[in-house]
Amino acid sequence: MSLRGVSVCLFLLLNFRRIALESVSISPDNLLVITVATRETEGFQRFLQSAKHFNYTVKVLGLGEEWRGGDVANTVGGGQKVRWLKNEMQKYKDREDLVVMFVDSYDVIFAGSPNELLWKFSQFNHKVIFAAEGFCWPDRSLAEKYPEVISGKRFLNSGGFIGFAPYLYQIIQQWKFKDNDDDQLFYTHIYLDPESRENLDITLDHKSRIFQNLNGALDEVVLKFENGRVRARNIAYDTLPVVIHGNGPTKLQLNYLGNYVPNAWTFEEGCGTCDNNLLDLSQLQDEEYPRVLIGVFIEQPTPFIPEFLERLPSLDYPLSKISLFIHNKEVFHEVHIQAFWEKHKETFPSIKIVGPEENLSHGEARNMGMDFCRQDPECDYYFSLDADVGITNPETLRILIEENKKVIAPMVSRHGKLWSNFWGALNTDGYYARSEDYIDIVQAKRVGVWNVPYITEVYLIKGETLRTELKNKNMFTLNGGDPDMIFCKNVRDKGVFMHISNRDEFGRLISTDKYSTTHLHNDMWQIFENPVDWKEKYIHENYSKIFDEDYFEQGVSLSQPCPDVYWFPVFTEKMCDELVEEMENFGDWSGGKHEDVRLAGGYENVPTVDIHMNQINFEKEWLHFLREYIAPVTEKLFPGYYTKAHAVMNFVVRYRPDEQPFLRPHHDSSTFTINIALNNKGIDFQGGGCRFLRYDCKIESPRKGWSFMHPGRLTHYHEGLPVTKGTRYIMVSFVDP
Ligand SMILES: *[C@@H]1O[C@H](CO)[C@@H](O)[C@H](O)[C@H]1NC(C)=O
Ligand SMILES: *[C@@H]1O[C@H](CO)[C@@H](O)[C@H](O)[C@H]1NC(C)=O
Ligand SMILES: *[C@@H]1O[C@H](CO)[C@@H](O)[C@H](O)[C@H]1NC(C)=O
Repeated sequence: MSLRGVSVCLFLLLNFRRIALESVSISPDNLLVITVATRETEGFQRFLQSAKHFNYTVKVLGLGEEWRGGDVANTVGGGQKVRWLKNEMQKYKDREDLVVMFVDSYDVIFAGSPNELLWKFSQFNHKVIFAAEGFCWPDRSLAEKYPEVISGKRFLNSGGFIGFAPYLYQIIQQWKFKDNDDDQLFYTHIYLDPESRENLDITLDHKSRIFQNLNGALDEVVLKFENGRVRARNIAYDTLPVVIHGNGPTKLQLNYLGNYVPNAWTFEEGCGTCDNNLLDLSQLQDEEYPRVLIGVFIEQPTPFIPEFLERLPSLDYPLSKISLFIHNKEVFHEVHIQAFWEKHKETFPSIKIVGPEENLSHGEARNMGMDFCRQDPECDYYFSLDADVGITNPETLRILIEENKKVIAPMVSRHGKLWSNFWGALNTDGYYARSEDYIDIVQAKRVGVWNVPYITEVYLIKGETLRTELKNKNMFTLNGGDPDMIFCKNVRDKGVFMHISNRDEFGRLISTDKYSTTHLHNDMWQIFENPVDWKEKYIHENYSKIFDEDYFEQGVSLSQPCPDVYWFPVFTEKMCDELVEEMENFGDWSGGKHEDVRLAGGYENVPTVDIHMNQINFEKEWLHFLREYIAPVTEKLFPGYYTKAHAVMNFVVRYRPDEQPFLRPHHDSSTFTINIALNNKGIDFQGGGCRFLRYDCKIESPRKGWSFMHPGRLTHYHEGLPVTKGTRYIMVSFVDP
């Protein structure tokens, strides 16, 4: 053959192939997706959302009808689907141009477009294609009858199939069984019969080109981010399946994939579905707002309970629409609840308090709170809130309601830690497992609303959902075990999705790990365990202004009342009061004598009536306070001097006219001294103050919570001026002795 001959041949060949391809290319207008759903579950809505994203035409059979196809999650069944499909396919039995795909819906997501699907379908060059999986179900004895495959999944799965309408019709019209007979077995028999397999031109999608069944294939499927898109990729066969099916016990893995595929989240665009189906409360009058029952749970001694309770009336939500159910298991907290109730009993339409005397278990209490909402047809939402959750964003309730989910939790985590109120995955025993995206979600590197298997501590549930899908009164105690785990398992088993949102900053989790209740004001000891809450409660709101450029240049009288004596706010009123009360509660004031067994030498040159921090076991915490809050001030005021913030002498002094009213001139054994006023001149006492002899400079009206800082030796020889009435308290530290 001449060269010319070859090229002509090649040309013909190429042309022929093009024609062959064109002849099978099918328009998406000729594709119909059929599915079955009796209820509009969230899984179903997710399915529709993914279909809509790609513009699939979907026909839904069975909506609103009673399901009689058996418990397909746990056993055989599903025949009802085939009966409905048989009925529907009558319409299309002569439509030779029509391609029909049948898929389940509750546990299915589309990952690719109709064009892609149809292209892959034509590549198969068969009339009918069923999904495949690695398990031979429901009749394992049929396994040997299957044609062997060298690579890929061998067995038929009926959760997805696609084919030309007349061929599908021929298959389906053979159905003559009961609604709870098994659909997969029916299709399997047809496929396994060599004659009908050939006549109807059926094959299986062994390598997940179209259908990805997750059961038995979890290790094969990974997320693939590329060019602003996200797919599930089968790495065993290097395919990008179009239909993802969370068959069998793989619902959670599907939920995980569904947090991304097809457009739920990408690196480029972030959350692509977050703004779908939101509610808008902004136009409502107060009385039109949904009613909320907040269930508050104090199940263990918990720091910062008064602050926690005070956040409830501070929520940016019409309080006339909020009722409270408070379960308190701790006698220790009864005084806090009592104070809250006295103050706010008129604020809310109702406050129900169940105290420790009821001896409810953790789970029983949660059942009870939830049931109050369930039983009340007017209860629109139930907001469950544990006492160790600091909801610092007052908009939280409103935001969560607007997310319009059946169950949604605001993401909160311990300050600076990975400890949060959700799990991204479960291990096989149902306990915590870390999902690949867990850290990114906790650290808000991925922001969105995430479908997760476990939430705890704080969440919002629609009252309607409690009265329907979650109507069991014992959600937290059914079958025993950890109440939160049981609750989440029950919610999962009902097919209700649990979401966690990190779209907003909501607050934080408080650590209860090292909370001892041996003191009068135990929160003071939380400086290590809960530093943020400690700071909010105890550090003056204007403390940080000290670090403004010009703070100490504001004029001598304010910030520098005497030469090199600096004055700045450091404690809140609360800190002052609690410290004084703690000292008075301890009560072992020194006698103001020179002999002092608390000191190494047993002798105090300039004695005062005082209590040392180490006597109330507060020394470690105090030194930490000096390092965190005083050292930075020193370094600003005395550039080049780096304090170790070390101090042996840390004490509260009490001045009284009839006890010790004043202190004679002295130096301090410190490089610098801080002296914090713990109460109010003119209210709690008269007189008092401090005089620096070298400058003949008096400071008379110290403000409560404000501290002086001055050099201890050499220049700042000083005396305590007499208190003429009442009691004056100051807190003194000799820093860097
Ligand atoms: C779906 O259809 C709409 C309107 O017909 C169109 O704007 C959009 O681009 C389509 N989307 C896809 C993924 O084809
Ligand atoms: C409280 O309940 C526990 C467990 O149900 C029980 O063991 C205990 O005796 C009860 N205490 C009181 C005071 O009723
Ligand atoms: C903090 O500073 C502002 C502005 O100067 C003042 O209005 C406020 O009262 C100060 N806060 C306290 C607790 O003193």
